[in-house]
Order: sequence, then structure tokens, then C-alpha cells
Amino acid sequence: MFKDVKKFITIVRGQKYIQLMQLEPRYHDGLNYLAESLHPRRQILKVTEILSINYNTKAIRFVSGNPKKELAPFRAGQYIGVKVDIDGVHTGRAFSLVSSPNNLAYYEIAVKSMGKNGFVSTHLCNDLKIGDFIEATEPLGRLYYNPIFHGNKLVFIAGGIGITPFMSMVRNIYERGLEFEVYFLFGCLTEKDLVFHEELSDMASKCENIHYYPILSEPSDSWAGERGFISNDLIRKLVGNIDGAMYYVVGPDPMLDYLREQFDSLDVPVQRITWEVNPPISDITKTIGWPHDISKEHKIKCKINWMTHGVKKTDEITVISSEPLLNSLERAKIPGLILKHACRGGECAFCRTNLIKGEYFVPQNVVIRKGDREHGFIHPCVSYPLSDIEIEVYTN
Ligand SMILES: Cc1cc2nc3c(=O)[nH]c(=O)nc-3n(C[C@H](O)[C@H](O)[C@H](O)COP(=O)(O)OP(=O)(O)OC[C@H]3O[C@@H](n4cnc5c(N)ncnc54)[C@H](O)[C@@H]3O)c2cc1C
Ligand code: FES
Repeated sequence: MFKDVKKFITIVRGQKYIQLMQLEPRYHDGLNYLAESLHPRRQILKVTEILSINYNTKAIRFVSGNPKKELAPFRAGQYIGVKVDIDGVHTGRAFSLVSSPNNLAYYEIAVKSMGKNGFVSTHLCNDLKIGDFIEATEPLGRLYYNPIFHGNKLVFIAGGIGITPFMSMVRNIYERGLEFEVYFLFGCLTEKDLVFHEELSDMASKCENIHYYPILSEPSDSWAGERGFISNDLIRKLVGNIDGAMYYVVGPDPMLDYLREQFDSLDVPVQRITWEVNPPISDITKTIGWPHDISKEHKIKCKINWMTHGVKKTDEITVISSEPLLNSLERAKIPGLILKHACRGGECAFCRTNLIKGEYFVPQNVVIRKGDREHGFIHPCVSYPLSDIEIEVYTN
């Protein structure tokens, strides 16, 4: 009798197990795991190294802060959105990965401190310590090599800290011995503004397909390299035959405006050039199209309708027109009101917000997705409010 009961229990347990297996087929878990590894909603990173690479820039290395999770893979040229909490302000900024995607044991970024004019960059350079944990997005961004369209003659043009995505690309090409013809034109002010100079010179000296040209606009008398700005003539001189090459340009907004004119005269087809602005616009009131009657200190009201734990809330704050709306919303430190963000350049659409009413300004080179424009969504990271404004916010 006792033996029969034992047998019965074993059979019932077995049936339950089979039922469970049928409800959750094995492949289901595997796919979710793969998707989550490739596109984690957030990553926890642990700082393992901080190194000054010139007077205002630090290279910061991270490993995964969760021993059970590996760092998400990325394509050379992509960035991560780094999240921070500075005196109660939840914010973040995009930083391109400078490490090679070949080595996923760590991520490395290089942060140029904007000093007293900066916020997150200054915090990362001054306050971050080895052993600290920070949150980041998955790797994002569209600045990377496309094997179908880009060919194998690549021209990288960087201004200042715009060098970072190219560092990852060049490291990747060098380490893997890829057969690209790379022309890397790196423009900055003086010798002391150069970063990664020794490593780039070394890679170029060992690999005949990598051509590295640092170009200084205010060099010392002893500088033996190229001088001045990166112009159409200089591109022609250094790259040689400009036809068929793929151009990637990353730098501050004024440099990109200048280079757009230079490329016009070179007759390079628009689809052969890819652009990324980095760092952000320092004074929006000086950009093309800004309404002259709106001063830098112009204050307006912003009404925010949002929801937390199923409860609808309304808040009203005062914001200034010359600051991106997203910065003002974060600066207000409204408890529970945390907007999603990653690029802060209008590209990722994470901060998509419903505009109920109000006028706003978006810099002319920012491209907002057609669907968002047509359905009344704004991207507060690149929207500067001009009149009293009302928005509806979807929080995390
Ligand atoms: C795709 C991409 C890749 C990038 N890669 C790199 C990179 O590799 N390396 C790098 O150095 N930079 C990179 N950048 C630029 C970087 O994301 C930051 O924009 C830059 O570091 C400057 O950030 P910041 O916060 O110091 O300055 P800003 O973004 O100019 O911040 C200053 C602003 O912060 C706000 N602020 C100031 N004080 C407060 C406060 N108390 N409360 C709330 N808000 C306040 C104000 O709006 C102020 O104008 C990249 C940008 C992009 C878009
Ligand atoms: S944060 Fe990427 S579009 Fe606003």
C-alpha cells in the first residue's frame, strides 16, 4: 500500500513537470536571454580604472557591475547613455565607447571635462572613483561601419573629443587586421589637446593601411605636422582620390557647419557622409534660426501632466528658454518624475514627450522622426521652449 502511494506521488510529480515544460518550452527562455543580453534595458557598470589622458580628459574603464551579466556587445562607433545622480538631479549624457568591441571584458569611455560650464562631464571627471557603480544604457547609435554600403576606403574626421568613436573603430581595425584603407584626420587646438596620440601614431606606424593625421589650429612653432583647419583642400591633399570613400564626421556644431560647406565643394554625395554632433551646443541663442527677441534669460512656465503609480499629477515649473526642456525638468527635481533618455541629441527618441501646447525651438540640423512630428511628440532633450508650454510625460 505504502509503495503504491509513493508510486502515485512520483507519477503526479512527473506529470506536473511535463505540464510545466509544455507551458514554457525551452527555446522561449533562450530567446529572451539572448535578447536581454544583446539589448539590456540597463547595465550596471563598475569603475575599475581612471586615467588622465590630457589636462582635461579622463579615460574611464568599467566592467560589468553584475557578476551574472556580461557587458552587452556593441559596434565600434556606438555610445552608451551614462546615468548619474548629482545632488538629487537624475540625469545622464551620451559617451562613445573608445574600447574595441573585440574585447568585451570592459568598456572604456573618454570624458572631456567641461569645467564650470559642464555638469555631468565635470562630475564624472572630478567625483567618480574606482569601485563606484553607475547605470548605463545598452550601446546605441548609428555611427558604425555598414559592410553593405560603406566599402573599404574610410575617412574619419574628428574635432576635439569627437575622436572617441573613431578610437574604437581604429582599435578594432588594427586588432583584427581588417583590410580597410583608413584616413584619420583629427583636428584640435594645440599639442596639449591631443588625446590617444601615441597609440594612434604607433598603430599607424605598424599598419600601412592606417593613415593618421593630427591637424592643429594653434600649434607651437616646433609642430611638424599639419596646421590650420580641416578644409576641402586638406581633405583632398591627405586622402588623395576622394571618390568612393565613406566619410564619418564627428565634432562640435560649428566645425560640422564649416565642414558641410567644404564637402559641398568636394561634391561628395550626401549618402557617403555620416555626421554626429559632439559635444552639445554651448549657446543655443547663437545658433541659426534662434528668434532674436528671445533672450538667454527668458523665463516661461511649463505645465507637466504625468502619472505615477496610477495617480495623475500636475506640476508647474519655471524654465528658461535657452536650456533644453529635459535639463529643466530634471533640474526641478520633482519626486518620481524621471524621464527616459540616452543620446540627448534627438536621435534615440527615448525622451519622446507629448506636447499639448506651446512654441519651441529645435536646432536646424536635428532630425526628428517623421512619426513623432506627425503625432505631436517632441524630444525635450533638443527642444527649447519659447512660450508657455504644456506637456504630457510618460515616466519610466
Ligand atoms: C552620441 C554622443 C557621443 C558623445 N561622446 C562623448 C565622448 O565620448 N566624450 C565626451 O567627453 N563627450 C561626449 N559627448 C558629449 C557628452 O554627452 C556631454 O554632452 C558632454 O560631456 C557635456 O556634458 P555636461 O553635462 O558636462 O555639459 P552640458 O550638457 O552642456 O551640461 C550643462 C548643462 O547642464 C545643465 N545643468 C547645469 N547645472 C545643473 C543643475 N544643477 N541641475 C540640472 N541641470 C543642470 C544645464 O542645462 C547646463 O546648461 C557625446 C555626445 C553625444 C551626443
Ligand atoms: S534622449 Fe535621445 S532623443 Fe532625447
